[in-house]
Amino acid sequence: MADRKKITLPVLRNRKKNNKKISWITAYDFATASFAEEAGIDMILVGDSGGMTMMGKPSTISVTMDEMVMFTSSVLRGVKTCFVVADMPFMSYQVSNEDAVRNAGRLMALGSDAVKLEGGKEMATRIKAITDAGIPVVSHLGLTPQSLSQLGGYRVQGRSLTSFKNLLQDILAVEKAGAAFHLLECVPEEVTAEIYKHVKNPLYGIGSGRNVDGQLVISHDMLGLFVGDVDPKFVKKYANLSKIIKETFSSYIDDINNNEFPKEEHLYSIDGEDLKKIQDFRRVLGLCK
Ligand code: KIV
Repeated sequence: MADRKKITLPVLRNRKKNNKKISWITAYDFATASFAEEAGIDMILVGDSGGMTMMGKPSTISVTMDEMVMFTSSVLRGVKTCFVVADMPFMSYQVSNEDAVRNAGRLMALGSDAVKLEGGKEMATRIKAITDAGIPVVSHLGLTPQSLSQLGGYRVQGRSLTSFKNLLQDILAVEKAGAAFHLLECVPEEVTAEIYKHVKNPLYGIGSGRNVDGQLVISHDMLGLFVGDVDPKFVKKYANLSKIIKETFSSYIDDINNNEFPKEEHLYSIDGEDLKKIQDFRRVLGLCK
């Protein structure tokens, strides 16, 4: 979007105030980030889901800071105005406030606008430490993939009174600790609506219904590019790029086998005189009969 101004935290807060929703997708590479910028997407999450979507890892648990730095710097080269949130990978913030601030700082030094970390009240001191260092933090609650083992798999959260109470306490604790905005994953729409009433800062959802300030979707899911068994019900599939890619590769193979590629229009030309000189030179060297 050529004439759009940079999306900043005040812009996001204003959108909430004016009841205007934001669009948020994940990206991990320069090309996708450039297309998102051109299409007018508001926010990009450089998610640790990149370990699964881009690297074929079975979960996000083994994603490293170095991998997140590579994904994040690639995305940042493709955007001008999108608000970019970089994910803090597993064990980059859990151990100590010092680790958390140092690693958040590393992602911010690349040019990110905020960092995201998973967890509720138990992460409040981390969120405060990072925020006190001048870094906006996005809280991620509900289904938190870095705790998949603890949660017992990809399960909808907030379906009981106990689970709702925990979610509410968590979101209030992280907001008090300074979280700039929140992401709620895989929570029933009605429960999200109850939580929404209690938070001041923007609340965005992924698989948490419509009662939020904007939606996040993993780009590989909406584009039909994800390889694997994870197939969330909440995703609307806007394209089937894997089908297009496979068909394209098959056509390429057929063209090669049938001498249909390359054709005349794919060849570089050479001046006849120069070609003759090359052929004569080869003869002088005795390279041809
Ligand atoms: O890494 C990611 O893409 C995420 C989403 C699942 C919210 O954290």
